[in-house]
Amino acid sequence: MEGGRNLVGPNLHEIMGRQVGSLPSFNYSQALSDADFEWTPDRLEHWLANPRSYLPGNNMTFAGVRRERDRHAVIAYLMVESGYQPEGDASAEDSGDGASPPQ
Ligand code: HEM
Repeated sequence: MEGGRNLVGPNLHEIMGRQVGSLPSFNYSQALSDADFEWTPDRLEHWLANPRSYLPGNNMTFAGVRRERDRHAVIAYLMVESGYQPEGDASAEDSGDGASPPQ
């Protein structure tokens, strides 16, 4: 994903926290261009559950991921891949033992 090209869909590298429909190199549908939010795990959960109804009129010709367990696996992968850090979540902070978090 990293630094990769857009294929049928936009490149999802660092999708978490990215403004929806914001890659200059990708030709989005009006639905995604007009939307105004940043991707979070929760938004991805809804998008992947049913891409068609989440942002009506979008071009993602993909039925979605039906099983909740599978959706969560995809989202967890994208979170790790994005180096995602939830804001204001004390439990995500360094425990203070001097060890660096795994890269
Ligand atoms: C589990 C797999 C997938 C995930 C997690 C995923 C996720 C996403 C996300 C987050 C966006 C919005 C990107 C942005 O705002 O920059 C997007 C858009 C898009 N995806 Fe997917 N996608 C998946 C599978 C697919 C597949 C299989 C296709 C093609 C058949 C596809 C085609 C597209 C297209 C064309 C768009 C742009 C939609 C538009 O402009 O309306 N995606 N996808």
